[in-house]
Order: sequence, then structure tokens, then C-alpha cells
Amino acid sequence: VALPAGFDPRDVIARKRDGQDVPAGDLRAFVLGYAAGDVPDYVAAAFLMAAFVNGLSGAETAELTRAMVDSGETLPLAGIDRPKIDKHSTGGVSDGVTLVFAPLAAELGLAVAKLSGRGLGHTGGTLDKLESIPGLRTDLAPEELERQVELVGCAVAGQSKDLVPADGALYSLRDATATVASVPLIAASVMSKKLAVGSDLILLDVKAGSGAFMKTPEHAAELARSCVELASYWGRRARAAVTDMSQPLGTAIGNALEVAEAVRLLKGEARGRLRELSVAFATEALTEVGGVEREVARSKAERALDSGEAAERFRRMIEAQGGDPRVVDDPDGILPRARVRRDVHGEGPGVLVTVDAEALGRAAASLGAGRARKGDAIDPAVGIEFLPKVGAGGGGDERIAVVHARDDPSAEAAAGQVLAALTMGQDAVQVPPLVFGWYGSEVHEGPGGPDERR
Ligand code: URA
Repeated sequence: VALPAGFDPRDVIARKRDGQDVPAGDLRAFVLGYAAGDVPDYVAAAFLMAAFVNGLSGAETAELTRAMVDSGETLPLAGIDRPKIDKHSTGGVSDGVTLVFAPLAAELGLAVAKLSGRGLGHTGGTLDKLESIPGLRTDLAPEELERQVELVGCAVAGQSKDLVPADGALYSLRDATATVASVPLIAASVMSKKLAVGSDLILLDVKAGSGAFMKTPEHAAELARSCVELASYWGRRARAAVTDMSQPLGTAIGNALEVAEAVRLLKGEARGRLRELSVAFATEALTEVGGVEREVARSKAERALDSGEAAERFRRMIEAQGGDPRVVDDPDGILPRARVRRDVHGEGPGVLVTVDAEALGRAAASLGAGRARKGDAIDPAVGIEFLPKVGAGGGGDERIAVVHARDDPSAEAAAGQVLAALTMGQDAVQVPPLVFGWYGSEVHEGPGGPDERR
């Protein structure tokens, strides 16, 4: 795709730099031009920074989203007759909900075709986690994705040259240029992936707290509203929960470690906030599109985990994507393991009052679990198991973390970062709620919606 005659991408940057709105056609030409390789990285990076600093209007956010969707094919999934659910998190630390939710929802009779992302900034990415399973592929072609959902009930793939390529390109550029934590850029990125795939319900997990891009529930609510508004513009149904990310959601931070934790949860062997949130999303899905009463939906979800059936569904999903299914039987034996393991002990009395979850995410990324530069390889084996929860544990000389590292110096550095991320105290601690609230969309089709504005 050549850029339109007379179009100069620098004009788009200049407008945003000066706080003006970018005309819809120019924004579209810019995004499609970038996806096609006709706008270079450094030009797109300058635009992202201008958008980060000066924001995007609702109309610009909608246009950006539309151009990203239109940069590739769409996948209506018209042939799937089960209720279709999509789910996405805005990014967190030890946020393995998708790994648990996708097979769980499939086990409950729903269909999940999900486009996930890679690690971004200090947050982990589902694709990187899944790819720690030997052999597993996430570059599914659109027809493969659809076929797998038909056969297995769930598939988790990456955006690709076919599906939302503009998000793939912009996502890694944002990661490399400190332009991630922006409401319109996250909303467009998340929703472009959700709008490109047909679904009856889009569930959004909008994270709030130290480990999220949005540090307060109020800021996260703004992102939730923006995502839900985009869905409703497109005539799509969405429900967004603002959920706690003031501490790691599970215990594992790092790719293979998070898969191993998900396997334990799917087999009903572990409890905690990661299980609770996965069950909450499955309950929401089954209630909203399955017509099942909330308490019945919840107990069905709990049962699918405790019986091990959800784990069997995960096995089928892994196998369908070319991965080694024995990971479900023996995660520690099949997944890559780091050479060095180092225990970290607490340094004094009290209880954990706050934890800088972003710092923990960064510590895991510096061990090799995340990327410093676009396209960097990651190390699937490294990471941190962080054991205490806010209001419970962390004091005395109890073991608070296990660092999994490639070598002793990096293990030592990460151990220091873990200890520096904690605030201990003696007083009673207010444990944050798991879910701050849900935002639901009314679907507004008709005049004013995107198709009419085209
Ligand atoms: N997840 C996404 O898909 N995109 C973002 O920008 C942030 C989180």
C-alpha cells in the first residue's frame, strides 16, 4: 500500500504535537502506511509519544482502532455455533487469567477464540507464556484458529500479518519507546484485537494498581469506559471489570513459571486470587451468554477446575497448537527450568503492607522474562515466585520469594529488587478487593456508530 498522494506523515505528528485533532483520513493513512512499512519506525514513534502526551479524542481513538482492524483480515467465526466469548487483560504481573479462563470457559460449553499479546513493559504476555511450552505455536492462520475453536472450544493466538498487523507493529514499538500507559493507545490496541474476531461477548479485565499501567481504580475505570464505548460503537457487547493489580495476582512471575501455576490451578490443586478471578470471568461469561443463573455458573466453574476437566481441555488446546501435552501431567519436568534458584527471605518483623508489583515485573524482565528492545528474545525459564500477599505474610525471616535465574549475579540483583519492592508494617492492613466494579455496554447500533460514519 503506497501512501496517498500528497500525504506527509510528519503533518500527523505535528498536529498531535500541537494538541490538535488529526483528521480521520490522515490518521488512517498513517496507521495503514505504518503497518505496510511505508511509514518508518522513528516517525511512528514520534507520533506515539505525541499521542501519549496530548491524548486522543474519542473520535481519534475510534479511527485509530478502525484503521488497526482494517490493516488485516477479520475473523467472523460465523461457523461456530456455541456462544463465543473473547477476553482480554490490559496487562499485569502474574496475570495468568487467560491461561486458566480459556480452557475453563471451553469446558463450560463456550467457544473462546482469543488474540493475545506479548509481554509489554513490565507486564507479561500470554503468547510468551504459552510459547514456553515446547513445540507450541501461536502463529495460527485465521482458518487454523477457527478450526481449532470448532474442535477444541478454545484457541489462543497472536495477531499476525493477517490479523490486526498494525497492532503487532505498534505494540512492540510502544514497548520500546515508553508509550504504553496511555488510555487511548491501550484501548485501541486491546479493542482492535477484539473487534477483528467475531464474538457474542467481550470480557475485559482492566487492571488497577502498582503492577498495572493504570495505577488507580479511577484511571482504570476511564480505560474500562473507553474500551466499552468502542465496543458499543461497533455494535458489540462488552463487559469490563476493574480489578486489583496492587500485587501480583498469582505467585509466579515469568513465562514457564506462570504456565506451571496455571496447570496447578486448572487441576484444582491451588487456590488464591488468580483462581478467584478466573472463576469470576467464567461466571460472568456463562451468566451473560449462557443464560445460566450466577450461582449455578460459579459452581459449574469451580467444579470444572476441581474435577480436573478444565486441565484436560488445556491439554487438548496445547496439543492442537503443536505443544507437548505432557506439560499438564508434569509441568516442572516438561517446561524449561532455570539453572539457578535462589531463595529470598524477609528482613524483619511485620506484615506485607504494599508491594510495588511493577518493580517485581521489571525484576523478572531483567532476568530475561521480558524484552528491553523490540524483537529481543526472552528466556522462558527465568522469573520470580513471589509468595506473600498484602496483609498476609512477608515478615520475620520467612521465605518470601524464589528467584529463577540464568546465573548467580542476575539472581542476586533480582533478590535485591524483590526486597526493595516491599513495604512492611505492624498495623492491620486493608486488603484491596479483587474486583472494584464492572462496566457494561449497551449496544448502540445505528446513526453515529462507526459504520455510519465511514
Ligand atoms: N494489552 C494490549 O493488547 N495492548 C495494550 O496496549 C496493553 C495491554
